[in-house]
This record gives sequence, structure tokens and C-alpha cells, in this order.
Amino acid sequence: MHTRKNQRNLTRSEKKRLVAAILELKRSGRYDEFVRMHVEYYVSDAEDDPRPAHMTPSFFPWHRKFLLEFERALQAVDSGVSVPYWDWTKDNTPASSLWAEDFLGGNGRARDRQVMTGPFAYAQGNWRINVRVTSGAFLTRNFGRPSDPISLPTKANVAKALRAPLYDAAPWDSTSSSGFRNEIEGWVAGSVDRPRNHNRVHGWVGGAMLGATSPNDPVFWLHHAYIDLLWVRWQSAHPRAGYLPRKKLPETDRQYGRVFSLDEPMPPWNVAPSALLDHKSLYRYG
Ligand code: CU
Ligand code: CU
Repeated sequence: MHTRKNQRNLTRSEKKRLVAAILELKRSGRYDEFVRMHVEYYVSDAEDDPRPAHMTPSFFPWHRKFLLEFERALQAVDSGVSVPYWDWTKDNTPASSLWAEDFLGGNGRARDRQVMTGPFAYAQGNWRINVRVTSGAFLTRNFGRPSDPISLPTKANVAKALRAPLYDAAPWDSTSSSGFRNEIEGWVAGSVDRPRNHNRVHGWVGGAMLGATSPNDPVFWLHHAYIDLLWVRWQSAHPRAGYLPRKKLPETDRQYGRVFSLDEPMPPWNVAPSALLDHKSLYRYG
């Protein structure tokens, strides 16, 4: 059983080993397979295709499995590493040790947003963005989006989401106006703090963290480990409130065949949300 630590508590050597394992996955081509998988399942609710990963109830279990597979790939390189989490309510400035030279490197430079520091800077020669749409081969970040400033979510934002009594609500997409899932995933419309929580963090980091290819920035995994931990916290705060929808939706529902109820297996692993509700047999948070 491995422990996922808060990234701020990692030792120098733990950071070094994690970075080395990530770079080895990149070198072998395995890393880019994860980016490609994320692109493949980046389906919007404006499309009719099944939606296991985003704008959907199975946002949490799909990303839990995605992280677990990534973590197993890392552990095949170095059995002593695990994915740490980034609590962006606390480590909420560019001065955080997360962005130091010995860990993920810092912000992009003004001219082209290119990250110039740390192990993932293009000039280091180990981090070429291969799976991309229009952007360049170098990693980009744009902390706080100066042209239209955006802040990281606060403790109060997260606390509000954790109070949601229900896991999710119809119509089970980006427009669901209540429920823990969309409060955290962050599409909730008609509000000044939109985007919220999960989406807002992608927006604050900016650059490569925007859109379908966001796992190109290694901070993706640390961000999603914290999202996963928030799901654990919501579960323990609401022990009687389970995953929704529980039953397969009726054919008359607009979301029929597009969202995954409790026991419907999700691609690409053919694992249902019900098999991913309990993290305790897989890892612990420390
Ligand atoms: Cu995702
Ligand atoms: Cu995300």
C-alpha cells in the first residue's frame, strides 16, 4: 500500500525520484500514451458520444482510474514513488515550492509562455510536447492569466462543494446546477465564480494545462490527486449519499447511452464506477 503525500511535504530525494520516473516514462513513450488517452476521452456534452471523463457523473471515478494507471506506470520505473497531491487552497502562489527548479519548474516567460526553469524546460532536452493541437513543442504556463486575471479557488469554495448533499444531479452534464460533482468539476453556470474549483485551477496554470492535452504538464497529476482526495472527503462527510445516477437512465433520457451510472463499465478499462468508489484498498492519503 502506498501513500500519496501532500507535495509540500516531499523530501528532496522524493522529488528527485518522482521527476526521474516521469522523465523515464516520457523517454519511453508511455507518458504520451496517457496524454493521447486523455484527448480521446475529452468529449463535450455538446456531442452525442459517450462521456466517461468530463462534464459527467463519472468524472471522479474515470480520473481515479486514469491516475491509478499512471501511478502504476511510474511504479514500474521506481516502485518507491507515488503521485503527490497539490492543495491549491494552501499552496496558491507562484512562490510555492511546487514550482521550484528542483521540482516542476516555474511560470512561462512573458514572450511565448515557455517554461524556462526546472526539469521540464524545453532546453533541458527531456520534455518535448508531442501530442498537441496548435501550440509549440515546449511546455507553457501562464499563471493567473494576467490578461484576464483568475485566482486559484479558496478553502471556502472547496468547503461549499463539500457541503453538497447529493453526488450529482440531472441533467448529468456541465449544466447540472447542484451536486458535488459539478461543484468541483466546475462548470456550474450563471455564477461569478465560474469556472470553479477543478476547471479554475486548469485556468490559473494556463498554457499546456488548458484543454484536452492538459496531462502534458506534469502538474496535471498533482492537481487531479487533490481532486481525488476531495472526493474521498466528500464521501466521508456524506456516508449515506452514494454515486448517482444509481440506475441506468431510461431510453427517453437525453443522456441515455452518454453517461455512466453506478454499474455501467467505463472505457477504456471496462470498469464501472461501483468498482472505484473505495480508494482504501489501493492507496492512502497522508
Ligand atoms: Cu481530464
Ligand atoms: Cu482536469
